[in-house]
Amino acid sequence: MADKDGLKVAKDYHVDTAFANQGSFHVKGANNLDWGMKKHLSNIFDPVSGNTVMFAFDHGYFMGSTAGLERLDLVIPKLQEQVDVFMGTRGALRTCVSPAFKKGIALRVTSGSSMLNDDLSHEVVAVDIEDAIRMNADCIAVQTFIGADGQLSSIDNLSKCINAGMRYSIPTLGVVAVGKQMERTPRFFKLATRIVAEMGASLVKTYYCDDFEEIVAACPVPIVVAGGKKLPEPEALEMAYRSMQGGARGLDMGRNIFQSEHPVEMAKAIRMIVHHGATDKEAYEFYLDATKSGK
Ligand code: R5P
Repeated sequence: MADKDGLKVAKDYHVDTAFANQGSFHVKGANNLDWGMKKHLSNIFDPVSGNTVMFAFDHGYFMGSTAGLERLDLVIPKLQEQVDVFMGTRGALRTCVSPAFKKGIALRVTSGSSMLNDDLSHEVVAVDIEDAIRMNADCIAVQTFIGADGQLSSIDNLSKCINAGMRYSIPTLGVVAVGKQMERTPRFFKLATRIVAEMGASLVKTYYCDDFEEIVAACPVPIVVAGGKKLPEPEALEMAYRSMQGGARGLDMGRNIFQSEHPVEMAKAIRMIVHHGATDKEAYEFYLDATKSGK
């Protein structure tokens, strides 16, 4: 391991230079992967725009019933037209998503904490790779707590999932967790996203922050941005727009969609930004118009 003393600060990210090993495949960092991996990644990232709208409703795995998700069976089906990927637990997916749903599935596979714990960073892998295969998951999602008490076990979980996923060509989504005591600085997100990508995750979920372009440039796989706590719609759309402008390849939003007064219209507005290059202002105008006219 390199000596930590006297390390130079990384600074030259060449943010205006495109990823050098893109090849002919539309997903960053996947050019050298096999057909099965690419097929799953194409179910996540649209081959035309290269981007994705993921809808996260995996909150129950540690929060139990969450405002806006009290009835998974009623909320989730309404959103299937507007999003590219459903991200949920196997319990929610099996019970509330039709097997006829044709888009992507991101299966949450780690668990082990709940809102009743102070430290959420100790998790286990709770879903076998065989079950991910049975569910035809397009990726398995692993929470990763860099810098937290549970860092070692979460890196262990991440590695085990990536190893299992590699055996069956199922990509792993590394989810960068932010706990109460953890930094939320560009320095932290740069460190965490890069560690997760170098462990072998095929896509990384993290938060938007300052210097986001550098975080994207330093990460050799696509970054999708987490929504985070519920914001007023114009602010959530601005965050989505800034993320895409900063090089994100999509959004993986939960509360900013399902806690919106108009979840379907909000998901459509996000879609305009992610796939059609709309600005946040244009998307918000659409949202206002659609919620008035029932578009
Ligand atoms: C990430 O920590 C988990 O996947 C969450 O359950 C989910 O991402 C939260 O989504 P949001 O923060 O957009 O509600």
